[in-house]
Amino acid sequence: ALVSEAAPADMLSLADARAAASGCTRCPLYEHATQTVFGEGPEGADIMFVGEQPGDQEDLEGRPFVGPAGQVFDAALAEARIDRARVYVTNAVKHFKFEPRGKRRLHKRPDGGEIAACRFWLGLERAFVRPRMIVALGATAAHSLLGRAVTIGSVRGVAQPLEDGTLLFVTVHPSYILRIRDRDAAIAERARFVAELTEAGR
Ligand code: URA
Repeated sequence: ALVSEAAPADMLSLADARAAASGCTRCPLYEHATQTVFGEGPEGADIMFVGEQPGDQEDLEGRPFVGPAGQVFDAALAEARIDRARVYVTNAVKHFKFEPRGKRRLHKRPDGGEIAACRFWLGLERAFVRPRMIVALGATAAHSLLGRAVTIGSVRGVAQPLEDGTLLFVTVHPSYILRIRDRDAAIAERARFVAELTEAGR
């Protein structure tokens, strides 16, 4: 239902959807964010990667995964021999949610209502890109795609078909790797992330 209900008559292409999303007011996050950060990548991409939401840098640049988490993601993709130019990269939530703290804007996790409101756009991206596989990066993406809150540990690393037959593969969010303080643990988790991306790309 998610995909078939998704395409209103004035949104007949990914470009239409992107243009409409730029004016999105489906949840209150648009009020403070700089801009909608829509997904990017070729329309026929084989794999779609779904992150959580844009971060500070993504909010300013208008592109997904260009900040610190994006650097971890890009390096892991390269090691997994996946060409970023050939995959579709997007987020479960398309506006930056943050708390002002002095001059800084601290990331806040989107809630279930925000995730649900933004599934409309992810549904359109899925309908137009029609990927063979969707890789959820972290719990928010998995929540959006499965329609329920899950823990990463319970769904990580096994491909499961979604209702339309698309395969869903869940792995960690790259910023999780950035937050690990223990050096050996960070190296091990990064290696596992690369191995999971490699598996998803096969
Ligand atoms: N984290 C995400 O989940 N998505 C981005 O685009 C950037 C950081």
